[in-house]
Amino acid sequence: MVGIYFSGTGNTKHCMELLVSSVDREADCISITDKRVLDIIESNEIIYLGYPTQFSNMPYIIRDFIKKNKNIWKGKKIFCISTMGAFSGDGAGCSARELKKYGAIILGGLHIHMPDAVCDSKLLKKSIVENQKIIKEADEKIYRIANEVKSGKYPQEGVGFWSHMCGLFGQRLWFYNKTTGYTDKIKVSSACSRCGKCISVCPMENLSINGNKVIAGNKCTMCYSCVSQCPNKALTLLGKTVVEQCRYEKYVD
Ligand SMILES: Cc1cc2nc3c(=O)[nH]c(=O)nc-3n(C[C@H](O)[C@H](O)[C@H](O)COP(=O)(O)O)c2cc1C
Repeated sequence: MVGIYFSGTGNTKHCMELLVSSVDREADCISITDKRVLDIIESNEIIYLGYPTQFSNMPYIIRDFIKKNKNIWKGKKIFCISTMGAFSGDGAGCSARELKKYGAIILGGLHIHMPDAVCDSKLLKKSIVENQKIIKEADEKIYRIANEVKSGKYPQEGVGFWSHMCGLFGQRLWFYNKTTGYTDKIKVSSACSRCGKCISVCPMENLSINGNKVIAGNKCTMCYSCVSQCPNKALTLLGKTVVEQCRYEKYVD
């Protein structure tokens, strides 16, 4: 087995590494941006796929990855895992349905509540202590699920019909335009010191320096990696100012 994931602010990376290592200490767990990812998928039958929920959907980078590599999924047994700040309905089901189209066998789905990643919105913001509690509960759930999975029992969160309805009517229909493609909505303020941090952490190579300005293109997958790591809090996406930079590491140091 192998774990592959996409993670903007570190939550999904943490959950996947903990889950995969708890099930099989020898198994690899790598980002979908790792150059080895396709070879690793090809050589494994069981794949755990993890990503953050975005507007009750999967990030566009994941959707694109599944589609671009549609020939590698046939016959693969996939466990879909989605982390979320509050609610997704069928976060795991979104990739499960796509993967099934390409011949994958879905083993199950798992939803893990983690701290919210939207750094430029007050909504869902919690204190460090509250976020630490959320992570502790997530870790406990992961250990429990790992034990069940080892005995062949996969959870089915988010992959059934009613979850699909919850995700669709609870959120996706209202926010559909936000997740149908990459976005050009990253804004860079005058606080930018052109240090290049955002450029180095963007998984889409969507940021660059043009003259003496950092500019954003139209391939942002809304992961909040740049917004959460800019030393000057100069980048925003959905909101107008950075409320609090969110990084998994902040809660566990
Ligand atoms: C653009 C965006 C949209 C999000 N939408 C949802 C949502 O619909 N429901 C939810 O529970 N959490 C939502 N979240 C929160 C993330 O799913 C959650 O914080 C996740 O654990 C972040 O994982 P990461 O650190 O691996 O990127 C959203 C986050 C972002 C950045």
